[in-house]
Amino acid sequence: MTNEKSGPATPRQPQAQSHWRRVVAVVLLVYLAFSSLSLSSHPTSPDYSHLADYCTSSVSPISANEYSARQESLGSVLHSLNASAYIAEPGPNAFFFANVSTTQWFLSERPLLFIISPEFIDEEIHPKLSVLAPKFEATRAKLLPIPFPKHKINWIEWPEEANPYELSCYCIIRPTEEGGKVFVDGAMRHFIVDGLQKALPESTVLAAPAEVKQLREKKSKAELEILKCAHETTLLSIREVHKHLYIGIRESEARKMMASALTAAGLTDGGCLTLFGENAALPHGSGSDRVLTQGDFALFDCTASLLGYRSDITRTVALPDTIIPEDHLTIWMRVRTVQDLVYASAKEGVLTGDLDQLARKALTDGRYGQYFTHRLGHGIGIEGHESPYLVGGSKDVIKTGNAFSNEPGVYIEGKVGVRLEDCFYIDEDGKAVFLTQGVGGMASSPLRP
Ligand SMILES: *[C@@H]1O[C@H](CO)[C@@H](O)[C@H](O)[C@H]1NC(C)=O
Ligand SMILES: *[C@@H]1O[C@H](CO)[C@@H](O)[C@H](O)[C@H]1NC(C)=O
Repeated sequence: MTNEKSGPATPRQPQAQSHWRRVVAVVLLVYLAFSSLSLSSHPTSPDYSHLADYCTSSVSPISANEYSARQESLGSVLHSLNASAYIAEPGPNAFFFANVSTTQWFLSERPLLFIISPEFIDEEIHPKLSVLAPKFEATRAKLLPIPFPKHKINWIEWPEEANPYELSCYCIIRPTEEGGKVFVDGAMRHFIVDGLQKALPESTVLAAPAEVKQLREKKSKAELEILKCAHETTLLSIREVHKHLYIGIRESEARKMMASALTAAGLTDGGCLTLFGENAALPHGSGSDRVLTQGDFALFDCTASLLGYRSDITRTVALPDTIIPEDHLTIWMRVRTVQDLVYASAKEGVLTGDLDQLARKALTDGRYGQYFTHRLGHGIGIEGHESPYLVGGSKDVIKTGNAFSNEPGVYIEGKVGVRLEDCFYIDEDGKAVFLTQGVGGMASSPLRP
């Protein structure tokens, strides 16, 4: 501020007045130039580098031994179910059993298949891993980082003119004459399932049953360490960006800030659904680029990846100078209470559908039931959304090692949307523990996410 009391310019000092005007104009110009520099750098690129020190650089990737244990468990499950094999394409399941996702090998019309069969060696069941690869790409396929430490991988190379599915039959240990079962990844593409079924006319080709899916649903200690780090870091990033938000920021700008913070924190593939005011009433976004005004909540639904595992956290926040309507604040508090209620009730043995029902009833009693339009939650791990799901009608039983999102929400179209999402896992004692416990867990208020 210039000193206004230095006296209004008088007609007696015309020279001095214009001199001071020039000085003030120059000072103002310099100030504006710098402040616009800092304005454009302030909201979009605060320094988030300290977030990288938290845990992402020190957490361990899944070891070769753990891959080996997963493969051994799969071999035993297949044997106990009398199944001849389990077959997957690159994707989340192949990543779980063989460390190959579609990042390492893009899907094309030429199948690359992982085939695991139970095999007897010295009267013990062991998994046999065969990989069926296009012959002209066999060298590239053999560079894939497939951990199979205890045994040798059986490579099958299929030439362009051959039927890959017929070739894959040769590596299935018990091509059952009397009609056996071959399990496939439930997400396998239809033309491959068809090809396998035609090549194995005596067998039934089925989507892998619960016993196989449960191997991935039960998170190991190492997986939980990765998931905790991913979730804690994601939440720290949200809290950091929250400090830099201001009334007048656009959704697109805030979204960029979140993505930068997640990247600086050492996470990959990160981003947030960023919705202000009534836009948040559309749970997956509106497509507009709204400005944050003084009466708005801001909703951030963030996900990022660490060593192949995903985080998923939602915060609905206000700024210190926000003036939130009373009824919107009531909704926030209600959603938060329901989240707490779910957390207290989630334990081993409870049906996933009952947990959803509990949240729905609590919101209905608070007269918001009709505005809670989606399921309560989903499993989380290699995929952001995976089985088991916390959804009405589900009879899945919650087990030790399961990890879920807990995300009640209230969406009143044209007015307001509030969602709070924290993920938790079930520990060895059968109790729920937040994956963000290490940084305090749930939001305590719209100002303290
Ligand atoms: C899994 O694959 C990654 C590369 O995507 C590699 O860095 C890692 O060493 C592999 N894990 C094992 C246990 O081989
Ligand atoms: C597996 O096959 C054996 C003999 O063919 C049979 O006794 C057993 O019940 C089968 N088990 C299952 C789970 O189908």
